[in-house]
Amino acid sequence: MSYFLGVDIGTSGTKTILINERGKILAEDSARYKLFHPRPLWCEQNPEDWWKATVKTIRSVVAKSGKSAASIKAIGLSGQMHGSVFLDKEDKVIRPALLWNDQRTAEECDEIESRAGGRRALIKMVANPALTGFTAPKILWLRNHEPRNYARLHKVLLPKDDVRRRLTGEYATEVSDASGMLLLDVKKRDWSTKLLSKLDLDRSLLGEVYESEDVTGTLTKKVAKTLGLTTDCVVVGGAGDCAANAVGTGVVKSGVLSTSIGTSGVMFVHSDEVQVDPAGRLHTFCHAVRGKWHMMGVNLCAGGSLQWFAENLCSEVGDKVYDVLNREATKANPGSDGLFFLPYLAGERTPHADPDARGCFVGLTLAHQRSQLARSIMEGVTYSMRDSLEIIREMNVPVKQVRVSGGGSKSKLWRQLQADVFGTKAVTINAEQGPAYGVALLAAVGAGAYKNVQQACAATIRETSSTPVDRKTKRIYDARFPVYQNLYQSLKGNFKAISALEG
Ligand code: XUL
Repeated sequence: MSYFLGVDIGTSGTKTILINERGKILAEDSARYKLFHPRPLWCEQNPEDWWKATVKTIRSVVAKSGKSAASIKAIGLSGQMHGSVFLDKEDKVIRPALLWNDQRTAEECDEIESRAGGRRALIKMVANPALTGFTAPKILWLRNHEPRNYARLHKVLLPKDDVRRRLTGEYATEVSDASGMLLLDVKKRDWSTKLLSKLDLDRSLLGEVYESEDVTGTLTKKVAKTLGLTTDCVVVGGAGDCAANAVGTGVVKSGVLSTSIGTSGVMFVHSDEVQVDPAGRLHTFCHAVRGKWHMMGVNLCAGGSLQWFAENLCSEVGDKVYDVLNREATKANPGSDGLFFLPYLAGERTPHADPDARGCFVGLTLAHQRSQLARSIMEGVTYSMRDSLEIIREMNVPVKQVRVSGGGSKSKLWRQLQADVFGTKAVTINAEQGPAYGVALLAAVGAGAYKNVQQACAATIRETSSTPVDRKTKRIYDARFPVYQNLYQSLKGNFKAISALEG
């Protein structure tokens, strides 16, 4: 029997699993690390922490499973997308990595648009507009704000691809994560030499681009020894965490949409063709399925909003706080007695693309208690995801089934809210480790255990539950959704003014 590792380098921590050829999870481990906010809307992490977490969790999973080193044939890597690991010629990390939810690059986004010859021209080259979270604006930010660091710059890698470099010694990436750098010709699945030249960036800054299931290298001798593996163990391309989650939940054919509530909130649909939202509200990226694409909408602070509330405003400690909040929120009335929450604590990406947007409770009265506050956060996050769903529907992308995943969807209430706010039943599947499971399957495909990704998913993933829409509650949310949408429109000028005051 052969075994495959899936490693997901997330924002709050790294999760590693080992599966067998039939897709059964044999062992898992995770390690948490810190997020730094040197200024209000800046988010950074230390790439060394990702590496330490990868080593710790792989070693522990291998030991727990009791499987021989030689039987572990392949590793798949997934990770938070868009982050920038800046390396010098000696592969030293130049400064902490800027993350997907960092909002410092608004001016660089304007610069990219104007160098590209306008927003339309940019979307034609790389299928997407310039958004603050993407990687290209981060490279320009380094050039504009830290010229000394920029002068040392030799390579820019995505979070999981820096881990790959340490595992294999190769500078490589794969199409799904590379799409979020804003430097990939998404249609051709290769770097856009046209945009690189307009931005005055050298292609040698970037790694080699592979398909997600392709082998990108093998473990170095030193690393194999550290991990308790062999130098025959291959590392496949893997995927950005959104595409990895889609593979891990079987979203590899049209008609199926996956939602994920982790730190971010993601609405993801498979697409057989490259389809671009002319208004640039949805992202169009390469899928981790060879020759396929996907569209998605991303909310920057989904589970992150409840986490903020739990950590800053609740006295319960540890994970218990989420059970308590869930219980209280379940008892509150649908619509939270007139309370709305806008989950824009980290600015917002879809559909507003507004780094100045801010989080708020609107409609507070003396009657409101913690239960309604918690419920309104979960409702507000779900409305923000419905915003993406509305655009997907408007573009006539078929959505026959909604599969819910991520930490947030473990909550029964949050599954019901998704069914009622989206107006479709919410289906769960057997694999709960979304991104880590997805890249373990890609590793199995890369090592030849399955013919392709679709076959791997068909063999391993099945529905486990279905939450039907509660028609009465749906009506309550349908009436409130336009009010939620209006609140951003009414407040956006004030958000700008607040941001200007804070400089
Ligand atoms: C996707 C995105 C987030 C991160 C979180 O575009 O920015 O989902 O990948 O891990």
